[in-house]
Amino acid sequence: MTPSLLIGNWKSNTTFAEAESLIDAAKAAQNATGAEVWVGVTPPFPWLMALRERIQDSNVWIGAQNCSATDMGAYTGEVTASMLKECATFIIVGHSERRAYYGETDEVVREKVARVLEQDLHAVLCVGEVLAQREAGEAEAVVKSQLLAALEGYPEDRLYRLVIAYEPVWAIGTGVAATADDAEEMCAFIRGVLDKRFGDSNHIIIQYGGSANEKNAAELLTKPHVGGLLIGGASLKPEAFAAMIQAAADVAE
Ligand code: 13P
Repeated sequence: MTPSLLIGNWKSNTTFAEAESLIDAAKAAQNATGAEVWVGVTPPFPWLMALRERIQDSNVWIGAQNCSATDMGAYTGEVTASMLKECATFIIVGHSERRAYYGETDEVVREKVARVLEQDLHAVLCVGEVLAQREAGEAEAVVKSQLLAALEGYPEDRLYRLVIAYEPVWAIGTGVAATADDAEEMCAFIRGVLDKRFGDSNHIIIQYGGSANEKNAAELLTKPHVGGLLIGGASLKPEAFAAMIQAAADVAE
């Protein structure tokens, strides 16, 4: 069975000193698990190169929170996937905060997925509905449309480079996670969409994200279609993140 994949998305948080101690705590927590659990973190851009050195002796992966839709060129302020290849193994693409605050459309998200693949990195593609869409019974249609738009033209021989993170927007940073049953239902739906799109999508891990914490991690991870967690706030608390890694290990055993 594929191990669970837990990713801590630090967003625009941490001083460099805090980042160093968080990464050390993640390394220790990952080392302490008996079962195999895949652990990644996405620090802010300026910390990536230094933290890459700090994870050399561990199995913790470093990723980026975003990348440019273009490759190198006269695009002031943009950070390209080709630059991130020096220090990251995966890149989060299409996070709802990027879509909501920085106007990222499905087309931009698709371009970013393409840039990530060009560099042989892994893409963690985020999808999820807002509350009004869920209440209107449109959650599945929204998620399906985000998925198919972002994965248009996605090469079938690169499925192992793809992770999908189902992050209902109403659950992000609110303290109100989806119930484990709701997360399971949508992750199962996503699996169906991916199977239809690609034939067999077994190589693709599907995560849940949105107020995942040390209290609900075990229940979420017990669900058969929830292959991991994308964790915001709780990943900034070393004990909470460590407890979630341990919960994933316990579920796997
Ligand atoms: P929270 O865990 O803080 O709700 O954030 C989830 C998220 O957006 C991870 O990418």
